[in-house]
Amino acid sequence: MEKHKPLVRNMPQLLHGGDYNPDQWMDRPDILAEDIRLMKLAGVNAVSLGIFAWSVLEPEEGRYEFGFFDSVIDNLYQNGIRVLLATPSGARPAWMAQKYPEVLRVMPDRQRILFAHRHNHCYTSPVYREKVRAVNTALAEHYKDHPALIAWHVSNEYGGECHCELCQQAFRAWLKEKYHGDLDLLNRQWWTPFWSHIYTSWDQIESPTPPDGRGEAYLHGLTLDWKRFVTHQTIDFMNNETAPLRAITPGIPVTTNFMDFYEGLDYSKFKDALDFISWDSYPAWHDTARSNYMTACRTALMHDSMRSYLHKPFILMESTPSAVNWKEINKPKRPNMHKTASLQAIAHGSDSVMYFQWRKGRGASEKFHGAVVDHVGHEHTRVFGDVAQVGECLKKLECVRGAVTNSDVALIYDHENHMALKEAQGFQKSDKKYIDTLVNYYYPFWKNGVSVDVIDSGYDFSGYKVLVMPMLYMIKEGVEERIAQFVANGGTAIMTYLSGMVNENDLCHLGGFPCGTLKDAFGVWAEEVDTLCPDERNAVSYGGQSYEVRDYCEIVHAQGAKTLATYEHDFYQGGGAVFENDYQGGKAYYIACRDTGALTQALCEKVIADTAPARTPRADLPVGVVCTMREDAENKYVFVQNYTDEIQFATFEDTRAVDMETNLPAGSEIELDSFGVRVLRFPKD
Ligand code: GLA
Ligand code: ZN
Repeated sequence: MEKHKPLVRNMPQLLHGGDYNPDQWMDRPDILAEDIRLMKLAGVNAVSLGIFAWSVLEPEEGRYEFGFFDSVIDNLYQNGIRVLLATPSGARPAWMAQKYPEVLRVMPDRQRILFAHRHNHCYTSPVYREKVRAVNTALAEHYKDHPALIAWHVSNEYGGECHCELCQQAFRAWLKEKYHGDLDLLNRQWWTPFWSHIYTSWDQIESPTPPDGRGEAYLHGLTLDWKRFVTHQTIDFMNNETAPLRAITPGIPVTTNFMDFYEGLDYSKFKDALDFISWDSYPAWHDTARSNYMTACRTALMHDSMRSYLHKPFILMESTPSAVNWKEINKPKRPNMHKTASLQAIAHGSDSVMYFQWRKGRGASEKFHGAVVDHVGHEHTRVFGDVAQVGECLKKLECVRGAVTNSDVALIYDHENHMALKEAQGFQKSDKKYIDTLVNYYYPFWKNGVSVDVIDSGYDFSGYKVLVMPMLYMIKEGVEERIAQFVANGGTAIMTYLSGMVNENDLCHLGGFPCGTLKDAFGVWAEEVDTLCPDERNAVSYGGQSYEVRDYCEIVHAQGAKTLATYEHDFYQGGGAVFENDYQGGKAYYIACRDTGALTQALCEKVIADTAPARTPRADLPVGVVCTMREDAENKYVFVQNYTDEIQFATFEDTRAVDMETNLPAGSEIELDSFGVRVLRFPKD
């Protein structure tokens, strides 16, 4: 179990730092000097620099000004702080928008935007691509030998779509390639005889618009292909901007920062174009709509998904030291939460804790967004103290950097499936709760210290013991066979209602759901779906207990499977609700209804008991306390986190743990402050 190599060049430390915008303070050398003093106090060792600095780097077309950043970077380096240097394509200078309007995005209503905001360029425009390439080339040439440079932070949070004529042409070309120039094939896959939509020429095809917009919204094949094209074109844009970086600085790794379950892009397709994954995490701690414990669960799932794209540690690129500014209610983190939330990222595979932002700006829309340094300007704030504490702690956790996460369980999060479910008209039309359902199925594993990889349905399943596939509505070519093979080879699979219904172009599979051989593997045929009204409930009996169910009750026939649970009410009373099927060497469970949590938990805990996946050392944990583990050849690093606002205790069977912050034996009973965290090192036997 070898540790992974450092993600960034020449830096075997956990990174601690964040977005630094000295270009907002060019007239305040005193503040820039103070930044260095404060960064050292806070234990900062790396910053992301120049993310929105294009108008400073290239104040006039073709005139590059690196002098200011030279002095900033030299100064950082002399003080032991390294740089993830950004390419500035996330926001363009005004002169460019004025001279070349084609760089500005066209909205779905076919109106071009004005010069405004950020993250809103046309990703097809040859002019924009050329300008980005030129500035990136200049940056790479200028900084290629600078020892401060440890990684490229490419652009910022790519996202959105452009509907200009250039993008339409590129879309049509992409379609021609996908459908091998065969328009009939496209017509069949998009089901265009519906509402007389048969295309007779490629240039009749237009990008879709929202349902109340001017354009098409009801050919789901078109909408899905458009979304795929947007991902493709964004990656193509990114490759255009990374080409000079790769050529000029081959030793400097490249990343771009992802966002949560962002619907606009399929991140699973980016993995081959990046050296490591990074992401921006902003959980809604202390929101009364959800317990911190469940917020932690959802965040853990996100971290796991980021780790799973490349199966290696990732970088937490942004998080807030206190509040954000863009939620409806923006709450600062309560005492201890900053450390707990930061170490949660490390626990799930991050090799960093980075922030947006280092210092609060004076003006514009992010002036009240949390930052390490507040407007008061000094270090004597609660937030600065919290950050400095994390800085100290990360130094003591140094040996966790590169440690691996060993998962025997895979949960499928498939972006295209997500988008198809969203589009599907039927069932619960506007919110089918795919993400909530993923959280529901992730929870029992997370709660029990079982590590989970979160993967796309195109990924290899063969190394796992358990495959969990909630609402896998879209079964793409080859996936059906790979799931059946996984079970045949001895794996345990869990599938739910609304699964195996459509192919990758959203055409329904014929012959009964779930499609094809899945009916054999799971031993069921799902005939109908009863969609419940929001206030309606049914119940199922399982193992002598009654469990409340809601939203979906599928009416399913066992075709070889054993019925484990039955419906208690309605015309399908007594019918099967949960099925277990022995299929060749493995087991397949089909869960036909959505429960309120307890049934999923009971079933997943049965699977954990039967399959014995890798998990943290045994412990007695109260509700609200969770253990997560990374490991290397010698040690298990166990993060014990309390997401309640009360003091809690966790008791471990293995008494050999050392507390990594104090370096003292931890004993078997661990005390946790409210929102407290302890990191324990267990020797491997
Ligand atoms: C995003 C962006 C940052 C900043 C933060 C605010 O993650 O990348 O530039 O706007 O949000 O939370
Ligand atoms: Zn465009």
